Amino acid sequence: MNNTRKVILLIGSPRGVYSTSSVLGNYILKKLEEQNFKTEVLHIHSQLKSQSKREQLLDKIENVDLILLAFPLYVDTLPAPVIRTFELIAENISEKQQERTQKLIAIVNCGFPEASHNRYALATCEQFALETGMQWIGGLSLGMGGAISGKSLDKLGGMVTNVKKSLDLVSESIIKDEKISEKAIEYMAKPLLPSKWLYTFMGSISWRIQALKNKAYSKLNDTPFI
Ligand SMILES: Cc1cc2nc3c(=O)[nH]c(=O)nc-3n(C[C@H](O)[C@H](O)[C@H](O)COP(=O)(O)O)c2cc1C
Repeated sequence: MNNTRKVILLIGSPRGVYSTSSVLGNYILKKLEEQNFKTEVLHIHSQLKSQSKREQLLDKIENVDLILLAFPLYVDTLPAPVIRTFELIAENISEKQQERTQKLIAIVNCGFPEASHNRYALATCEQFALETGMQWIGGLSLGMGGAISGKSLDKLGGMVTNVKKSLDLVSESIIKDEKISEKAIEYMAKPLLPSKWLYTFMGSISWRIQALKNKAYSKLNDTPFI
């Protein structure tokens, strides 16, 4: 099939390819590539480092049909570089006064077990689309994001069955040029693990291993700002 639609995946995590954001976004991108979509991946943090990279980012965004934005929740909102990217896009649009044709999908994942923490970040993305004239196609929200952290979904077994169902539905919607379905949103918001206790227990072990590796184990209970 001859497909001329262009999609850009913007990854808003500083962890780059080791991030949950990258895994979720790239899963959809792979499905779209199979349908001959033209795809590209940009890491927001590195794209903001110089004026020429910022210009390149804006230029690429102007020339795509769909922006797939995947980022982690930071302090109940979007990471600062993602907010900066929104500001740059908005400034660029008001300077050029062009009519927008781009569509926007956002995928947010958070460290807490409940996906509901992401709702204000998703609402921010929707508002951004509204104010910049982009078409909001919908947003996905995942909790327990730390359980993915760069690992391929194909290697995570039953834990990510609902995540894959959601991303498959979203890919189909994009191919059919439709909005994200409620079913896709529901699947993504389902907990990855059956109990919150198990997730926090595993997270706590991984936290302690990281502290040991970084020779910071004895500092875990420090409260330097109190
Ligand atoms: C600076 C910082 C702030 C964070 N704030 C939150 C938060 O407010 N709520 C939450 O549930 N997780 C929070 N997290 C956890 C991340 O959202 C979580 O680890 C996520 O899975 C990282 O996704 P990524 O791999 O795509 O970067 C925070 C992490 C960092 C580093």
